[in-house]
Amino acid sequence: MTSLLEVANLTVRFARGDGGAAVSDVSLSVHEGETLGVVGESGCGKTTTARAVLRLLPRGTAVSGSVRFGGRDLLGMPKRELRRLRWHELALVPQSAMNSLDPVRTVESQFIEIIRVHVRCSRREARRTVHAALADVGIDPDRGSSYPHQFSGGMRQRALIAMATVLRPRLLIADEPTTGLDVIVQDQVLRTLEQVQQRHGLAVLLVTHDLGVVAEMCDRIAVIRQGEIVEVGTVSEVILNPQHEYTARLIAAAGHHAQTTAEERAVALASTPGTERDR
Ligand SMILES: Nc1ncnc2c1ncn2[C@@H]1O[C@H](COP(=O)(O)OP(=O)(O)OP(=O)(O)O)[C@@H](O)[C@H]1O
Ligand SMILES: [Mg+2]
Repeated sequence: MTSLLEVANLTVRFARGDGGAAVSDVSLSVHEGETLGVVGESGCGKTTTARAVLRLLPRGTAVSGSVRFGGRDLLGMPKRELRRLRWHELALVPQSAMNSLDPVRTVESQFIEIIRVHVRCSRREARRTVHAALADVGIDPDRGSSYPHQFSGGMRQRALIAMATVLRPRLLIADEPTTGLDVIVQDQVLRTLEQVQQRHGLAVLLVTHDLGVVAEMCDRIAVIRQGEIVEVGTVSEVILNPQHEYTARLIAAAGHHAQTTAEERAVALASTPGTERDR
């Protein structure tokens, strides 16, 4: 299994931080087509890691280590080159969907603009693409003319997933895509993510504090605590047999759901050829 994203010894210090590293010596990889869960409690450095990969941290932030995507050095390449990769090859669904949408413009017009920044096409063609992308995630294309606040939380998340994947990237980084949603809506968003992923053979780096989500969606997990990775492994290895006391505490706090889901998946995987074990 080839690595699509290879993060090695990533360390991040904010200019306005407390002097300590928000992310310290983090190494992880995401293989083609797989889902890697990055999990840990609030403030442990999940978003910082995700944004460091895409070089979306504030100016003046010190970032060291290496980030390679499809063999290319993301941290070292000129910004211009990186801009060409974003959306086309790797895309982000940022934390808190509402904040990433402009409240005074319709969803459709924002999406049309994004497409036209990245692809040479007419407004009409871009609109057609947006409508198809919305339909793909179960949103009536006519709803494109709504403003973000007229969408429910789940619709906003699904719309952002549709947009982030509209140019068929190879990797999607989704930062807490289900946080704050009730369980039924959360499930719809996860199913949408899964469908889009299967349809396009997408790899996903899924950032979440929710081990239940990880147990359900991910092939492997990286557990982060205070900016450092404490444990990486397959879902069944980590959730059913945690090696680190911190992981065990997260699992205990998540309750039975995460464990039962991981057990069910372990049983299902064991009976399917070509499973995570072969990777
Ligand atoms: N722009 C910034 N300037 C200074 N410190 C920051 C900045 N962004 C994040 N931090 C700090 O870095 C640490 C990691 O924050 P980060 O947002 O990555 O955590 P997180 O794991 O995503 O948390 P959450 O689950 O709440 O989203 C925290 O201590 C946070 O206060
Ligand atoms: Mg975060």
